[in-house]
Amino acid sequence: MADLDGWAVLVTAGGTREPIDPVRYIGNRSSGKMGNAVAVAAADRGATVTLITTVIAPDFSGIVIPVETAEEMADAVWSRVSDQDVIVMAAAVADFRPAVVHTNKLSRASAPDLIQLEPTPDILAGVVGRSAGATVVGFAAETGSLDRAVHKAQAKGVDLLVANDVTAAGSGFGTTTNEVSIIWPDGAIEAWPLMPKEEVAGRLWDVVLQLRSDGR
Ligand code: PMT
Repeated sequence: MADLDGWAVLVTAGGTREPIDPVRYIGNRSSGKMGNAVAVAAADRGATVTLITTVIAPDFSGIVIPVETAEEMADAVWSRVSDQDVIVMAAAVADFRPAVVHTNKLSRASAPDLIQLEPTPDILAGVVGRSAGATVVGFAAETGSLDRAVHKAQAKGVDLLVANDVTAAGSGFGTTTNEVSIIWPDGAIEAWPLMPKEEVAGRLWDVVLQLRSDGR
């Protein structure tokens, strides 16, 4: 199936790592499996894929840009969005990072009582502002209710938001399966059953194809 032939697609995957010192970082549990599945499915269907990732990339035909921090991911994504037809932000990006990065490893004696945090760039907000004409798909990691995700879809200005409850069995971080709900900006929600991440990716591309053929 090559129904995405001619499309330029950018996908983010993995969790960002925000350094405290040369040894330690603030991170999250993302394995990159969801983003990788989205990238591989697009490439298999004919798209030219750029995968911006913090984890080891799959063996596939796309271009891979390795990054580590939210700042590096923001630079890598924002410098490429203007050429894309579809942007899918499956990465788990830290919302906060240490305000000071220590040059040397902190010893037990010199460790600060508190690590001051500052906000990271909101990559998705920057994408929406820079990507005229592209279909922008965000992901939302929620714990429990998806109420916040509906608000997020509207606030972020995305064309689609894929919400997952990362506390549900078989869903979210590190799993091979996921149970997601697709949220449109008007608040309509379509809940999909638990399925392999590869199948979520395939169905997501079917929805994006439909959206783009409807001119949305
Ligand atoms: O990688 P896996 O182990 O397979 O796990 C998959 C997953 C749980 C990471 C994935 O399905 C998922 O939910 N990804 C989004 C995680 C997340 O950061 O959600 P959020 O609700 O905090 O952010 C909402 C959106 O804003 C996301 O598209 C995120 O990429 C983006 N964001 C967030 C913060 C930030 N500073 N910049 C951003 O662009």
